[in-house]
Amino acid sequence: MSKKPIIAVTRVLPDAGMSMLAEAADIELRVWPGDLPPNPDELAALVAGVDGVIALVTDPIGGDLLDRNPSIRVLSNFAVGYDNIDVVAATERGVLVCNTPGVLTETTADLTFALLVSAARRVVEGVEYVRAGKWQTWSPTLLLGQDLHDATIAIVGFGRIGREVAKRAAGFSMRILAVTSDPTPRTDSETGAMYTDLDTALKEADFVCLNVALNDDTRGMIGARELGLMKRSAILVNAARGPVVDTRALVEALRNGVIAGAALDVTDPEPLPADHPLIAMENCIVVPHIASGSVATRSKMARMAATNAIEAVRGNRPPHIVNGDVWQNRRQ
Ligand code: GLV
Repeated sequence: MSKKPIIAVTRVLPDAGMSMLAEAADIELRVWPGDLPPNPDELAALVAGVDGVIALVTDPIGGDLLDRNPSIRVLSNFAVGYDNIDVVAATERGVLVCNTPGVLTETTADLTFALLVSAARRVVEGVEYVRAGKWQTWSPTLLLGQDLHDATIAIVGFGRIGREVAKRAAGFSMRILAVTSDPTPRTDSETGAMYTDLDTALKEADFVCLNVALNDDTRGMIGARELGLMKRSAILVNAARGPVVDTRALVEALRNGVIAGAALDVTDPEPLPADHPLIAMENCIVVPHIASGSVATRSKMARMAATNAIEAVRGNRPPHIVNGDVWQNRRQ
């Protein structure tokens, strides 16, 4: 009897995905039981001899791990982003990389917008004020924030998620600037967004939302120079990846009034240590990388990640491949 292919899962996923994996009678499952990610040694032990890995954004996977485990044929990331995986190394070794695009677009845009509204209207400060027992009366000048309507929003990264943020911004009657690698001035017919270059967008926007993928072009994209271009009243929202922003420069900018505030779903490092200055700053909101975190969306992501891994270890084309060349060039 030939051995069943093995799929390793680096954390317990929502039931929708775990039950698919458990029900696949032709596949053996190996699940990391911890609430925290496996450390590099634990990850190496977990994936030893497996055929497929369902990984999270917290699991760095490079060529070394693949070299030590040549049985791995697929890395199925439980995320749309895949910057935790060295895709070049995987491609060179003929390993498929898969992700979960599409299903988390709106949910991520919702949270991006929630951060924007919360920071602009000082919602978190308001909650803390009430919880601290400070609420004594209605006040004409209490916790005054910034209007979203008629303000200018710059959306840096105008892919699936950026476009959904733009639709929400249009609903709030905002002027929308879109930044992509092509700054040619033009208007987006669906959202009314006007394309421009990064510097112009940073100078003109009241709110700057980052929705780019992390890669060599976007790492450190927002540093001291870029923060210095922004209005002193502007708010930066990062729902992309922490390393898109230079953390030290952001701390300085928030401390010195270079910009008015920030709202972050992602940070660098992640998680932030409990004593990190960004956590204590009143003009900064940090939430723990939860942009895709709705019950429905995480279930869809789990099903998609499970399907990608199951199909690949069965020798079928998984639905969402990042490095299509590997599939084209596979040995039949
Ligand atoms: C989460 O951050 C994702 O990339 O899906």
